[in-house]
Amino acid sequence: MNIILLGPPGAGKGTQAGLLVEHHGMRQLSTGDMLRAAVKAQTPVGLEAKAVMERGELVSDAIVSALIDDELAAMGADVGAIFDGYPRTEAQAMSLDAILAKHDRALDFVIELMVDEEALVDRVEGRYTCASCGEGYHDRHKQPAVDGVCDKCGGTEFKRRPDDNAETVRTRMAEYRAKTAPILPFYEARGIVQRVDGMAPIEDVTAAIEKVLASA
Ligand code: AP5
Repeated sequence: MNIILLGPPGAGKGTQAGLLVEHHGMRQLSTGDMLRAAVKAQTPVGLEAKAVMERGELVSDAIVSALIDDELAAMGADVGAIFDGYPRTEAQAMSLDAILAKHDRALDFVIELMVDEEALVDRVEGRYTCASCGEGYHDRHKQPAVDGVCDKCGGTEFKRRPDDNAETVRTRMAEYRAKTAPILPFYEARGIVQRVDGMAPIEDVTAAIEKVLASA
């Protein structure tokens, strides 16, 4: 199965993709994660993407589509793909069609996480992760049981994304409204869009997504 998780910054795409990977052995293809890895490794793509990401704007369509193409080429044909944060523009949606056809795959669902933008600013601004294992936390909603110690791995270093500040989050939201939300009709015309309440507790969102997958 190949699905797209669509929603603005902080909608829970990464959270739900991680759970689907655990439950179904699917593969999460997050262009945001790929770009952050490129920035960290200071590759040519990373050097080009760094400032764009820090401003909360979109990296070029050609760069992100090439990343997705490479990842799919390296994946087993029997492993399902969860597109997390891609496509984000009409051009990327068109490229994804071509890339999927090239790899003999077809899209099953586009799952839109329906959310309230103001609540999302709070979600994104407050989040941080364990620097060792990547476990996610939040200043107000999910703190480690022992202050300063990761529940999962015992790590004591934590980090925040440089683009998780209120000003950049608002730019990212505006980019979503202007460039990403308009791709929905493209998929609606194919009858593959399913909507899920992204403001519900995490486990309820997961259950709603599972219901969609089971309907295939
Ligand atoms: P990217 O990394 O894709 O970031 P994003 O879309 O802004 O999404 P986030 O990772 O911020 O949020 P999410 O929806 O995954 O939410 P999460 O699960 O973390 O992109 C970053 C940048 O890279 C872009 O701005 C752009 O510059 C560039 N880029 C990436 N892809 C690109 C592309 N295709 N084209 C061009 N440029 C691209 O959850 C957020 C928080 O909420 C967490 O703390 C979580 O614990 C909590 N939470 C989740 N669900 C719930 C819930 N149901 N209830 C309560 N809390 C919840």
